[in-house]
Amino acid sequence: MAHILHIDASPRGERSVSRMLAKEFVAQWKATYPDDTVTYRDIGRYPVPLLSEAWIAGVFTTPDQWSPESAKALQISDELVDEFWAADRYVFSIPMYNFSIPAHFKAYIDQIVRVGRTFVLDEAGYKGLVHDRKMTIILAQGGVYPEGSPSQIYDLQTPYLKLIFGFMGITDIDFVYANGLALGDDTRSQAIASARSALKTMVA
Ligand SMILES: Cc1cc2nc3c(=O)[nH]c(=O)nc-3n(C[C@H](O)[C@H](O)[C@H](O)COP(=O)(O)O)c2cc1C
Repeated sequence: MAHILHIDASPRGERSVSRMLAKEFVAQWKATYPDDTVTYRDIGRYPVPLLSEAWIAGVFTTPDQWSPESAKALQISDELVDEFWAADRYVFSIPMYNFSIPAHFKAYIDQIVRVGRTFVLDEAGYKGLVHDRKMTIILAQGGVYPEGSPSQIYDLQTPYLKLIFGFMGITDIDFVYANGLALGDDTRSQAIASARSALKTMVA
């Protein structure tokens, strides 16, 4: 039995392609594996806080040294880290903004990449602590950035997401692209159909 953490990062509602695909995927997953459980978080519409001085001060001191502001900031971060640890599967839907991830998702990453909680630093260097997890990342993009093409360098989402989750120890990541969404109705429909089909295969 798996526990899924499903996070939507688009601030758009019904018009969001990434949100729609993730919703369909999780619904199909639940229909196929009814015993699996899901925690849902909508950071697109309800963003997590940005890091603050109180947060940073708290991370590098012990709880007995925390100000009330640090305690509050770290409580939110701890909840997000606990929720992240509690899952063994992740479904993240993320739009491309300015060739990268939206600030909403970056704020989430900043909250969960925590020394001593999701990674450690010792004599050997950095070590991720979160292992044996599987991640599906659904990316919605207006353009296309195919591997090996000159435009690939504009896709700063894929390499960053691989790097940051790899840093925490998660390397089993499937990327599903709904791309070319701004390139006309036909391309858009084909892109959505192809992402749907890839996601359907993953459920099976
Ligand atoms: C503020 C903003 C910035 C965007 N920047 C890019 C971009 O750099 N490259 C790209 O391919 N698409 C870009 N897009 C298009 C979105 O990735 C596309 O509309 C996608 O469908 C958004 O995801 P959503 O449908 O889940 O909301 C941008 C859209 C917005 C609103």
